[in-house]
Amino acid sequence: MADSLQDRGHWGSKIAFILAASGSAIGLGSIWRFPIMVGRNGGAVFVMAYILAVVFIGFTVMLAELAMGRHTSKNPVGAYETIKPKTPWKIVGYAGVVTGIVILSYYAVVAGWAFGYLYKTIAGVFRGRVTWETAETAFSRFAADPLEVVICLLVIMGITTFIISRGVQSGIERWSKILMPLLFVLIIFLAVRALTLPGAGPGLAFYLKPDFGKLDVKVLFFALGQAFYSLSLGMGIMITYGSYIGKRENLVSSAGWVCFSTTLIAFLAGIIIFPTLFATPGLNPENFQPGTGLMFQVFPMIISQVPGGYLFGVMFFILLLVAALTSTISLLEVPTAFLIDEKSWSRKKAAFVIGGAAFLLGLPSALSHGGLPFPTRLRFMDRMDLVFGNILLAVGAFLVCVFVVYAWGIPKALAEIASGNPRFPLKKLWVFNIRILAPLAILLLLVFLRVITG
Ligand code: TRP
Repeated sequence: MADSLQDRGHWGSKIAFILAASGSAIGLGSIWRFPIMVGRNGGAVFVMAYILAVVFIGFTVMLAELAMGRHTSKNPVGAYETIKPKTPWKIVGYAGVVTGIVILSYYAVVAGWAFGYLYKTIAGVFRGRVTWETAETAFSRFAADPLEVVICLLVIMGITTFIISRGVQSGIERWSKILMPLLFVLIIFLAVRALTLPGAGPGLAFYLKPDFGKLDVKVLFFALGQAFYSLSLGMGIMITYGSYIGKRENLVSSAGWVCFSTTLIAFLAGIIIFPTLFATPGLNPENFQPGTGLMFQVFPMIISQVPGGYLFGVMFFILLLVAALTSTISLLEVPTAFLIDEKSWSRKKAAFVIGGAAFLLGLPSALSHGGLPFPTRLRFMDRMDLVFGNILLAVGAFLVCVFVVYAWGIPKALAEIASGNPRFPLKKLWVFNIRILAPLAILLLLVFLRVITG
């Protein structure tokens, strides 16, 4: 027990926490998944719905999770159990741990693609002008090569496991501090280039000019799911991260910063992708259905159009990889913290067992893009993402709201939030959101989605 107490870390400072929490949030969810969701769900209306979902629901749930974590200094299971001992509530914590392992399993596949693209870029595969056709062929060939994708997955899971097995401080903090700002600069630069492309207009209109005829329950549901996914909510990550925050830190502004920076990166990713994509002759925003590889097809196109494209490309994929790794790290940290706290495992053993399990679970996802016929026919990865990345995160976030309102109690939650932040100007809004708006919106969308899709 003493051993496991020592194994828990603490954030060095508030900024270290914000950087690490943004490190968890910012990643492939914003750069890879967000543009796909925009492309599949009506363009600009989705963007608007997503931003509203982040501001009113994501922020609310994030603050709740951080408060639960800091109050209890526990992993999700321990947090529910500490606040409401001997009740079924801890099952929600367990569900979060499981959801995290599943999301990690396929998230690491996409991170593996980023790794693959890094060495391809270094090898000069994308030298010269990259067109939509060449980019598409390159991606589908790569994703369908069973050996290559599995090795890439193994590399990602190996690095993640190694970092987590070494502990919170040395692992997460150091990386996010230096490299996240650099990624931001690079993305701004690419966004400017994309905006000045000849033919940027149609893509920009698709991305920013809402066509309200396209708004429906499906759009709202996926926007909400994307908000949870990109902010790392609904499975206990922010509970776990909250448990490492000191009592004197301001939870509200921390949560605000994480929401803001994540949304900004996602927004910029769209600014890069859509103008570049729809400047391609023959691609029409009205009937284009983006595949899972969207960003891996479009980024090489725009990178090939900036001066010094080779170096730029190498740098971009290195930073994308780091952004992805700070997220895989957070996904592995939850189950690891659980085994350390609740089962008194050593950090090393916990990290290796869970990392290994997630690798095995990731195999069918890795092979579902042409690598093997059966998982491909099942569309294994897409299904995992729908069930775990959308539905279960929404359910998890819903239960966080219910728990805070009815089991923990708003006054106690507010007292925790007030520590380090005695004036909380948004207090009334937050209480309304967590009591009514967030749970109601999630519930309605889950119910209506079931009705519509049967
Ligand atoms: N938010 C991360 C991203 O956008 C992915 C992620 C990390 C995540 N932890 C999570 C998603 C927990 C859902 C739940 O890249």
